[in-house]
Amino acid sequence: MNESMAGMKRTHYAAELSMSNANEKVTVMGWVQKRRNLGSVIFLDIRDRSGLIQVFLDEPVLGPEDFAKGERLRAEFVVAVEGVVQRRGDGGVNPNLKTGEIEIRATALRILNHAETPPFHIEDDVNAKEDLRLKYRYLDLRRPVLQKNLILRHKVTTAARQFLDKEGFLEIETPMLTRSTPEGARDYLVPSRINQGMFYALPQSPQIFKQLLMLSGYDRYMQIAKCFRDEDLRADRQPEFTQIDMELSFVNQEDILDLNERLLQYIFKQVMDMELSLPFKRITYKEAMERFGSDKPDMRFGLELKDLAELAAGCGFSVFADTIKSGGSVRAINAKGMAELPRKQIDALTELCKYHGAKGMAYLAVKDGEVKSSFAKFLTETEIQKLLQLTEAEDGDLILAVADKEEVVFKVLGELRLEIARRLNYLDKNVYDFVWVTEFPLLEWSEEQGRYMAKHHPFTTPMEEDIPLLDTDPGKVRAVAYDICLNGNELGGGSLRIYHRHLQEKMFEALGFSKEEAYERFGFLLDAFQYGVPPHGGLAFGLDRMVMLMAKADSIREVIAFPKVKDASDPMSDAPNIVEEKQLRELGIQVIKPEGEK
Ligand code: AMO
Repeated sequence: MNESMAGMKRTHYAAELSMSNANEKVTVMGWVQKRRNLGSVIFLDIRDRSGLIQVFLDEPVLGPEDFAKGERLRAEFVVAVEGVVQRRGDGGVNPNLKTGEIEIRATALRILNHAETPPFHIEDDVNAKEDLRLKYRYLDLRRPVLQKNLILRHKVTTAARQFLDKEGFLEIETPMLTRSTPEGARDYLVPSRINQGMFYALPQSPQIFKQLLMLSGYDRYMQIAKCFRDEDLRADRQPEFTQIDMELSFVNQEDILDLNERLLQYIFKQVMDMELSLPFKRITYKEAMERFGSDKPDMRFGLELKDLAELAAGCGFSVFADTIKSGGSVRAINAKGMAELPRKQIDALTELCKYHGAKGMAYLAVKDGEVKSSFAKFLTETEIQKLLQLTEAEDGDLILAVADKEEVVFKVLGELRLEIARRLNYLDKNVYDFVWVTEFPLLEWSEEQGRYMAKHHPFTTPMEEDIPLLDTDPGKVRAVAYDICLNGNELGGGSLRIYHRHLQEKMFEALGFSKEEAYERFGFLLDAFQYGVPPHGGLAFGLDRMVMLMAKADSIREVIAFPKVKDASDPMSDAPNIVEEKQLRELGIQVIKPEGEK
């Protein structure tokens, strides 16, 4: 039978107690983690969101009725315990537990609720599969590690709000039911009942609204904003995720980078008591690609890409020479000290390169003055020496080279660089290495769409000196856009915005929209642009990614209370799901069943 907690009041969270509470009468409430029955005495571990406390039950102190309750307790029962804090017996001290020195000697015990045996044991080293844990997420969320992660997440948003409030930002909510303005990812659509056949879109980000708030004169906006994007899921991507979003008026890029460095410094200090030294490193997009093969470079280690063009042009190895002749690129990584990597592993690295789009991978190892290589036989001694010089190779090193179109070479070597770092154990999660990547291209060509797409979004302003290229060579135009990267993750991104109507129209033109199409899609924005837009810009952090890295978690699912799984579903609530016929009729919607389904 369940008992009421009437007359009892919790005095402490479990893990708040320490020897400084010795001899105090306290009351804790929580879940039974474990019960050990030693006959005349019983030990309980009681868990709440703060952690664990040991409770000692003995009949003479507790009385026979409550002691009998103690014998009935099982894991996850909800209890209230009143008792006196005391030092544990000598053999019982547990140095691994925050409250390991003390216990509560119970004077009263109530069973507030019973629990079925859970489908997995609730502890950090749980061995249940993630699918099962997500089906019972409410139990999974009882695990201390997830509780710690969500508390950390709360601290991050609190610190962000505090800092931005002090800097004069206003938190303003923007709508969830918005208009679809197709650009970037796919929208999630919401059918309208009142306007049948019409749809709202859930916001991919508050981008247009925050820009309009600048036009309306709010000057500094921030929001912890939910965003929705119908894209394929990955460890660092969810269909709904959260941004720390901001926009500022009358600022330049420098103002925004400076403010956001200080914001990160404040958050890391408040939440992790860690000092970040400012300013962060900065590199341009071009430099990031050439040195690291990635626009979100992991700066915790070197292993930089080396350009072999000087050697490759006209060398005896035709794969290299022909690639350069046809305008491609030949680059390499020096895998330090890996000369003795077995052939099988080299083959595995070649497969990795092929997976990422390369036709192959060439290797050269130098060990005890001898060269072992897939292509050295085509090179002269001078050419080999040149290769060693260009890659700064020393005895014991392994050179891995790829020849292809430049974008393929960057992509493949960027991935190879990370794989080698993994093998050399360079990826230390305790190191937080921030870098700004600036001067992103404004546009990128989409083979699929047969037109240029905005690399960041269509409201990003081109660099002043590149504006003439919009007419002649749009692919070369650089944007005043920047990403903040942390340990190889894109933590956030932003830009200065276009604030002149004619330039915005020109941008839509470069994106292949006719005047009519641009008006059809973004008309309200273009209209608004007639009424005095201040120069403005902003940035948004991916909150989930930030917390993931701070928590040293492997996936953003570990820092989101109720995440989705790979197919964008929620195994706990079974969303998405079918709805009643009546609801569909009201919405004027008829479902076309997938083929083969009744
Ligand atoms: P952007 O599209 O770069 O910019 O998004 C900003 C940051 O949000 C995070 N992010 C995601 N996190 C989890 N799951 C996803 N599916 C996902 N997609 C993006 C990333 C990213 O850096 N409105 C602009 C910002 C601006 O210009 O001010 C924007 O949304 O960490």
